Amino acid sequence: MLRNKTVLLGVTGGVAAYKAVELTRRLRDEGASVNVIMTDAAKKFITPLSLEIASQNKVYTDLFSDPMSHIMLPAHADVMVIAPATANIIGKLAHGIADDLLSTCLLAFQGKVVIAPAMNWRMYENHIVQENLKSLVSRGIIQVGPEKGELACGEEGMGKMSDISDIIEAIRAALTRKDLLKEKILVTAGPTREYIDPVRFLSNRSSGKMGYAIAKAALRRGAEVTLISGHSSLHQPKGVKFFSVETAAEMLHVIKRELHSSTVLIMSAAVSDFMPEGTDREKIEKTKTLLLRLTRTPDIIAEVGKRNEKPFIIGFAAESGQKIARARKKRREKNMDMIIFNDITEAGSGFDVDTNRVVIIDRKKERKLPLMSKDSVADAILDRLVELRA
Ligand SMILES: Cc1cc2nc3c(=O)[nH]c(=O)nc-3n(C[C@H](O)[C@H](O)[C@H](O)COP(=O)(O)O)c2cc1C
Repeated sequence: MLRNKTVLLGVTGGVAAYKAVELTRRLRDEGASVNVIMTDAAKKFITPLSLEIASQNKVYTDLFSDPMSHIMLPAHADVMVIAPATANIIGKLAHGIADDLLSTCLLAFQGKVVIAPAMNWRMYENHIVQENLKSLVSRGIIQVGPEKGELACGEEGMGKMSDISDIIEAIRAALTRKDLLKEKILVTAGPTREYIDPVRFLSNRSSGKMGYAIAKAALRRGAEVTLISGHSSLHQPKGVKFFSVETAAEMLHVIKRELHSSTVLIMSAAVSDFMPEGTDREKIEKTKTLLLRLTRTPDIIAEVGKRNEKPFIIGFAAESGQKIARARKKRREKNMDMIIFNDITEAGSGFDVDTNRVVIIDRKKERKLPLMSKDSVADAILDRLVELRA
């Protein structure tokens, strides 16, 4: 997503400055080229050399040693990021002060600016800092964090810099066209668990990666997103309305409650097709054999598809083998607007991997995509959604 993008990263004088090294590395891993500006205070915390190595670029620190840098660096940047952002730089930017290279570049830059504040909770709660942040956000600056947690001073409170992955997500969002602003998208993800007794359940290998990727991509593109997730070890995406569920019945219950205001339903959850006919209240004793009688779980998509005022429905067909005909039939029978077929037996496709190879089937056409990251698959699905709803 950040391939061919240039990030101008400002590092200011807070304890979290060392995290800028990891941020720089991760941005480069995403394909971005990174130019770093350090304030004088930042240099007290980490050396320019560390950031020079991480960015593989010269690090800029002085306004006057390279007289055109305050114009050239912003002119070549796609996005500016300040991480960590001190109370001082927040105050300077809010008041248009340009007394060093970073603050001058901020005024010369015309694109999106992302700031990741980090400071002691007393500083963060100070009314002046809060007013300054409000003023920056009202002018379109994107604020990510801070979080509550253990601070460098050993105290607990609000002021910890956001996780690197959340900062990167905010940068991606800043660089994304907002073509889903009008949509309210309900996404389901992950597996369901159908309990046999209080400790045992039937489930499947779904990790939730595809659904979470869709939720994050939709959010980046400006949609209002609700994510209903079965058990998953993934980080809950910031900015989505999130519900955690276990069984298919629970998932259906939350979908019904949340659906009324949604324009699109994307069912990427691997909902169990079967559940035990009854759940034992006590743990079933160990026996030589155990016969389980299974019954069908509620068919969520079919139920929603029958509604008069149905949302745009996107379903998934994870099949083993070339059973694309079955996916086409499933789309028609359940009145889905689009179905995403993937052959889970192919290498790099399906459960618990970061890539997928899918065919997007809708009412008008089919598009076979090559093996790509789940993030790219998510964007391809949303691209088609935008086309169809234009
Ligand atoms: C040990 C130490 C830690 C500091 N940590 C922070 C911090 O986390 N956040 C912050 O806003 N200021 C912090 N400060 C204060 C800033 O370094 C100070 O306001 C400085 O002028 C910021 O300059 P800059 O914004 O140009 O980098 C800290 C100061 C010291 C001495």
